[in-house]
Amino acid sequence: MKIAIYPGSFDPVTYGHLDIIERAAKLFDRLIVLVSINPVKPSTFSTEERVDFLRKSTSVIENIEIDSSSGLLIDYFKKKNADVIVKGLRAMSDFEYEFQMALINKDMYQKAETVFLSANSASMFLSSSAMKQIAMFGGDISAFVPDCIAKDIIKRLKIN
Ligand code: PNS
Repeated sequence: MKIAIYPGSFDPVTYGHLDIIERAAKLFDRLIVLVSINPVKPSTFSTEERVDFLRKSTSVIENIEIDSSSGLLIDYFKKKNADVIVKGLRAMSDFEYEFQMALINKDMYQKAETVFLSANSASMFLSSSAMKQIAMFGGDISAFVPDCIAKDIIKRLKIN
């Protein structure tokens, strides 16, 4: 049984994340999508909202669990007896930071392998922050997030 963890801020989840989630769920027996609570990086949405958006958006995937954690990823990885950390890569600009995190995690725990999945071409330039700006100013976000969460995102972010 291969367990993979896909960690991130998911502030909020977008089709870019969902593409990685769907593909990773096919590659591994169990996929844990982990909302990371970072005390030094304030998030727009609360942990509960981010978890809820992920649950709603992934309800059809059977081998998935959505969880949150405020500690080190590697401690969570050990606690779950996981095999792989999954990360998505968009452009080359993501690579240096992600490569550094993969090396640090492996240094802290040799069993921690990071597998990178390339973003699909439609999500190459999609980011939660760009989507949030579009929502804030009343733009159409239907190409970036599923319908089941779009209304809640707009309600929370739209100015006026
Ligand atoms: O979506 P993001 O913001 O790129 O995700 C970054 C994340 C959550 C994967 C990373 O910050 C993380 O693993 N945080 C948990 C704390 C930790 O383990 N930090 C050391 C990793 S080098």
